[in-house]
Amino acid sequence: MESMVNHNKILKQAYKGKKVLLTGHTGFKGAWMLSLLHHLGAKIKGYALVPKSPNDLYNLIDGDQLCTSIIADLRDTQRLENEIEEFQPDFIFHFAAQPLVRESYRNPKDTYEVNVIGTLNILEALKKVNQKCSVVMITTDKVYYNHEWEFAYRENDTLGGKDPYSASKACSELVIQSYQHAFFPKEGFDQHKKAIAVARAGNIIGGGDWSEDRLIPDFIRAVYADKAITIRYPNAVRPWQHVLDPLLGYLQLGQKLDENPLNFSEPFNFGPTINDCVSVEKIITKMIDSWGEGKMEKDKNIQHMKESNFLMLDTTKVSRYLGWDPKLSLEESIQKTVEWYAVFKDSPSEIKAFTHNQIKMYLEL
Ligand SMILES: NC(=O)c1ccc[n+]([C@@H]2O[C@H](COP(=O)([O-])OP(=O)(O)OC[C@H]3O[C@@H](n4cnc5c(N)ncnc54)[C@H](O)[C@@H]3O)[C@@H](O)[C@H]2O)c1
Repeated sequence: MESMVNHNKILKQAYKGKKVLLTGHTGFKGAWMLSLLHHLGAKIKGYALVPKSPNDLYNLIDGDQLCTSIIADLRDTQRLENEIEEFQPDFIFHFAAQPLVRESYRNPKDTYEVNVIGTLNILEALKKVNQKCSVVMITTDKVYYNHEWEFAYRENDTLGGKDPYSASKACSELVIQSYQHAFFPKEGFDQHKKAIAVARAGNIIGGGDWSEDRLIPDFIRAVYADKAITIRYPNAVRPWQHVLDPLLGYLQLGQKLDENPLNFSEPFNFGPTINDCVSVEKIITKMIDSWGEGKMEKDKNIQHMKESNFLMLDTTKVSRYLGWDPKLSLEESIQKTVEWYAVFKDSPSEIKAFTHNQIKMYLEL
């Protein structure tokens, strides 16, 4: 308990009054991050597209009151550069992306443009920051070339991607690597003062995700409508984790990067314990148990868009160097997720306070 209190104190010291540029602040993870950063006392400028619906978490928590919100496209090079140059951030957390595998099959070009060129635009604009800046780039567990083996991936495994989303995120990492070497090298830190780390997290669950073609939102839409969820890949194993676990890790990474830029300008995996990497079928069974009702059926239409079967992350590095380990077990992550959607269904007017309370309770764990 004492170490956790100290830990929260360290994060407050790191972020209080600091200028943080948060891209993707209107999205699922971005809105939780916005809330966390606000809780820590940061001055936040968000940069993203308009929230897609009134029920988006950003709207539910009155996100506009927590930050200066810039609604603009990552591909608008000039606007992005102007916003970053004008703000002169101490930290950047880059979340904005086209994050869905199936959407990347429908719109591969947009996916590559947003995820690769969008990332490049952030890095170009970083050249206009003329003070120290610590940057955490959010990619994904899907950046690893997937061998479909039963070993968990480590940070030095080969990058790759068999679908456009995964490949676009792997490409964005190559762009980041090249900028780390060509424009922001460790040996030149005293001149450029930029440190860039990469955060690769697994499948995130938690309240407020309404994305199409994502397992938990699909399940919630089905139970709200009293229908069965259709699952496409029952045996696919994924590293599921509650949204607050990796977000706390990203904050710790930013803080360490700021303190010690030369040692932390690297990629880090954020994932659950290996035992909590379970199949789609198992996670839906657990969701049904926790919700108290719900049905699933397996998709018999075999014309799937291909996705990997087996994906687990090794988190030895982040545990050793950041002292980060997930605070929540899979059961607790599911329970927190289910509680959020149950409150939203029954008492939507309480969801802002409830979300804030979930964060507060999590930080006190
Ligand atoms: N949710 C997960 O399970 C998961 C897992 C691993 C990694 N990630 C990564 O985390 C990040 C956030 O994911 P999420 O689940 O919150 O996604 P999301 O779709 O909920 O949010 C995406 C955000 O990016 C913004 N955005 C999209 N296109 C943009 C553009 N052209 N210009 C400006 N902003 C744009 C959106 O407005 C939104 O704010 C992404 O980089 C994603 O790849 C997510």
